[in-house]
Amino acid sequence: MLSLNGSFAPPGDKSISHRLALMAILASGRCVVSNCLPGEDVQSSLKALQTLGGNFETNDFINVIITGLAGKTHAQGTIDCGNSGTTMRLITGILAGRNGRFVLDGDNSLRKRPMERIAIPVRQMSGQVITTDGKCPMTIHGQALQGIDYQLPVASAQLKSAVLLAGIQASGQTRVIETTSSRDHTERLLRQMGGKITQEGNSWLVQKSDLKLPDQFYVPGDPSSAAFFLCAAAILNNSSVTAQATLLNPTRTGFLDVLKRMNIQINVHQKNALAEPVGDIQVSYSSEILATVIEENEIPSLVDEVPILTLVATQAKGTTVFKGVQELRIKETDRLAAISSQLNKMGARIEATEDTLIVHGPTLLHPVDHLESFGDHRIAMTLRLAALLTETSPDIAEETCVRISYPDFHDTLKRLLIS
Ligand code: S3P
Repeated sequence: MLSLNGSFAPPGDKSISHRLALMAILASGRCVVSNCLPGEDVQSSLKALQTLGGNFETNDFINVIITGLAGKTHAQGTIDCGNSGTTMRLITGILAGRNGRFVLDGDNSLRKRPMERIAIPVRQMSGQVITTDGKCPMTIHGQALQGIDYQLPVASAQLKSAVLLAGIQASGQTRVIETTSSRDHTERLLRQMGGKITQEGNSWLVQKSDLKLPDQFYVPGDPSSAAFFLCAAAILNNSSVTAQATLLNPTRTGFLDVLKRMNIQINVHQKNALAEPVGDIQVSYSSEILATVIEENEIPSLVDEVPILTLVATQAKGTTVFKGVQELRIKETDRLAAISSQLNKMGARIEATEDTLIVHGPTLLHPVDHLESFGDHRIAMTLRLAALLTETSPDIAEETCVRISYPDFHDTLKRLLIS
């Protein structure tokens, strides 16, 4: 019987690493970033900074010295956002307020993802964004922006961040109203960089500000990466793993609340609160996992963990329901279709409607020869861990895509399997 045991340090948080690279376009100063995520997605943001005339120095993409551009952008050709929705959406808000014409493009997956949702509020601020049928490639004609009041039509931290980053350059005040709170790293960093930002109930208010990079920034471990091994330990006999120095921001740890409701034992040991709360998380195997209902308002706090939580749900007694997960249909791939089709191939019983995922458990997963990741890193990692339950090692198409968010995934897996 395969089990996972021991400690691991997940790579630096992807969302925070992106924001340090991208907000450096607006900020002055120089920041020594340690534990930056060396994944391809963050490299897209660092290269975007470079294409715009900024600078970064690194040997390993983990320790990175970023020099801010203080808004003095000049695009030298198309900005290639690769596979990264975060790069494209946040940079749109940033560049809308800079002088110049900027062209943004991405890979085949990114070219299918909706960008009009960002263009709409930016246009209301007098920005000029031209999409290609609502998607990229897109062109931004940067100019002076005016503040707006904007109620987010979807609970998306990328959309919220784009409006806040446009608002921090706009005349007057920009108010962003969110009905369900989503990750707040942009807000925290804006405050840390000297931006005028305040919270009033469920609104964020920003005013035109000069930003300055912090001299140093330690990026905590990514809970969305840690979640893979933590969740796998919960379902593999005799397992117990600890994710060290992991981000414990409550807008990101919804998956831990769900695991607790499923009768899974979790110990969290919070360490110092730096710019963000950080600590160790231990999860152990549970022989009696119970189904639960995940409500729509919980989804933003676990949006990237739905695939791996779905795997846990296949081992739970009863029917687990994820409500309001329509946003997963427009991630790197249609994650509802991908996870249900591939786990069902292994014997799971999952139904996906337009906005709901229903998982009937428990099911005994059986070996298969071949699985599809659809080039989606979170699907590939979930399937590799699902295969551990069958004690086999199927071929997973395009599995190298894990380097988008977790370049050491396979090495860490090997180490936890034998320790
Ligand atoms: C992210 C926000 C989430 C998440 C993505 C990263 C961010 O997307 O899925 O991986 O860094 O802001 P949405 O805000 O679009 O839901």
